Amino acid sequence: MLEGKNVNLRIVEKEDLPLLAEWVNKPEVFGEFNPLRQASRAEMEKMRGDGRFEAGEFFIEKKDGGKVGYIWHFNVMHPAGKMLEIGYFLLPSERGKGYCTEAITIMVDYLFLSRDVMRVQALIDVRNVASGRVLEKAGFKREGTVRKLLFLRGDWRDAYLYSILREEWKEPKILTRKEVES
Ligand SMILES: CC(C)(COP(=O)(O)OP(=O)(O)OC[C@H]1O[C@@H](n2cnc3c(N)ncnc32)[C@H](O)[C@@H]1OP(=O)(O)O)[C@@H](O)C(=O)NCCC(=O)NCCS
Repeated sequence: MLEGKNVNLRIVEKEDLPLLAEWVNKPEVFGEFNPLRQASRAEMEKMRGDGRFEAGEFFIEKKDGGKVGYIWHFNVMHPAGKMLEIGYFLLPSERGKGYCTEAITIMVDYLFLSRDVMRVQALIDVRNVASGRVLEKAGFKREGTVRKLLFLRGDWRDAYLYSILREEWKEPKILTRKEVES
């Protein structure tokens, strides 16, 4: 478990997939700027079982163990560089409390401490103001607009590309080097 001040990140296990499927299948939880998709538990298990799904998935948990959201990192293939991308969501009742900013900060610490990557990035619908703000609060910079990247609810949408570079991160903000090594 990766421990923060108000939230922890706990790895998603196979037995957690029913809860994750329940959340992802609810449009109000997954959010209006994520694809309107429905995934069965069997599909989610299959995707994670065949080795194609190279990702790290975590629940965002409050200190009392209550699960309030989800954050994941995944590989972005590029022949010339090493980078990881992140995505996240919170239960609607838990938004506006700073949990996502803290979860992203923990995730960035974890990735720069444990992986030899130069950049961590996120791509968000240009209309997703809350997501842009949490990224900026976690130290990401907006790099530009990627045109017609996201197919959301019947339309192609432009996305903002955000990133934080290793040299901008400099030092862990929440985790310690010892924690990640142990
Ligand atoms: C994106 C998300 C995780 C952000 O977490 P959150 O707890 O809602 O974040 P906050 O409520 O703290 O809002 C973040 C900031 O955006 C601002 N904000 C939120 N909604 C806004 C809106 N509609 N217009 C303008 N500003 C807005 C808040 O005021 C806050 O800024 P501040 O700290 O400077 O006051 C959450 O909204 C969510 O789960 N959304 C659905 C899933 C999603 O879109 N995920 C991202 C896809 S990559």
